[in-house]
Amino acid sequence: MKLASRMDRLGTETAFEVLAKAKKLEAEGKEIIHLEIGEPDFDTPSNIVEAGRSALSNGYTHYGPSPGLMEVRETIAQEVRETRGIDVSGENVVITPGAKPIMFFVIMALIDAGDEVLYPNPGFPIYESMINFVGGVPVPMELSMDLNFDIDLDKVVESITPKTKMIIVNSPNNPCGSIVSQSALKKLSELASENNIIVLSDEIYRRFLYGGDFQSISSFNGMTDRTIILDGLSKTYAMTGWRIGYGVMPIGLVESISKLSTNSVSCTASFTQIAAAEAITGSQERALEIVEEFDRRRHIIVNGLNSINGINCPMPDGAFYVFPSIKDTGMDSRVFADKLLQDFGVASLAGESFGEFGKGHLRFSFANSVENIEKALEKINQFVQSSS
Ligand SMILES: Cc1ncc(COP(=O)(O)O)c(C=O)c1O
Repeated sequence: MKLASRMDRLGTETAFEVLAKAKKLEAEGKEIIHLEIGEPDFDTPSNIVEAGRSALSNGYTHYGPSPGLMEVRETIAQEVRETRGIDVSGENVVITPGAKPIMFFVIMALIDAGDEVLYPNPGFPIYESMINFVGGVPVPMELSMDLNFDIDLDKVVESITPKTKMIIVNSPNNPCGSIVSQSALKKLSELASENNIIVLSDEIYRRFLYGGDFQSISSFNGMTDRTIILDGLSKTYAMTGWRIGYGVMPIGLVESISKLSTNSVSCTASFTQIAAAEAITGSQERALEIVEEFDRRRHIIVNGLNSINGINCPMPDGAFYVFPSIKDTGMDSRVFADKLLQDFGVASLAGESFGEFGKGHLRFSFANSVENIEKALEKINQFVQSSS
């Protein structure tokens, strides 16, 4: 079957490929420690499961409106008003099966062939994939370890041209665990306003902060009208498999994004939306405990990695990933990740899975138990020792 040529431009998320490879090794009887996939290792809190279950019993089993149930859109809008201090209502919200479709739909709806999009690199691979897919021009904003993986504003200024249509911001960042500083966000917001640029702000990790308050670029002067916030429940409430996320956007864009929803998924499962409303309005105790636990693991993995010869691991300020440099081991990051999985049973991702500037790094998720993290650290150490 001859594929459409556009398929040549579609990238992927390596995490799912490595997960499949690791599962295959497990099926063959090998013990694998999973540090590749970005999902909390906890179960969804019971109040949320219960809300989903009772929604199923109460008939939330039918098609719903493409942008989502209005009462749930209102609940989300209220949370966004409280956490970002911006004036939005349910009319600004589109609910999707996971947050990822917001990326897909927004880039599809706004980027024409030849439009330039600045995006973080290393960054979530789907940004670059989608920009290429629609014929846009991906313009990487390098996040370098020398700058603590923050955005280099001088380079951003140089990269902006009359064709720049969008800037993608992701703070806290996957894979670096870094935060875009308040001053950088402010400067980016000024650049966006001066140059009539739209901002897609991926805030999915906003609750995973280990000190300091969350700051959204949408809160800066004039930004609500040019920002699309991408957020969701997958990470905060350990709801990855429920598939629930949302975008908060200027009202003028809602109809187009909903139309893309109608053309693809029709709507998000209604009972999932009811469960999401419970997640947002119910007790936050479990969500806070998860962040506390991740904070503890963050120190264990960073200290452990830094004690291994040739590995240099900065402390992440957010999300649940570390992105150490392995350059001093003299090994190629892809070879490192492959051998570590095949020979030592530790699944991780090579830095270049997140873009060209990720080369020489590995991404480990610390959404795994302390026991497994410690076991993995031992194996990584053995691997490095045996390779040097
Ligand atoms: C930066 C970033 N944005 C968005 C998503 C997508 O989240 P969801 O599972 O809700 O689609 C992820 C998931 O890994 C992510 O890392």
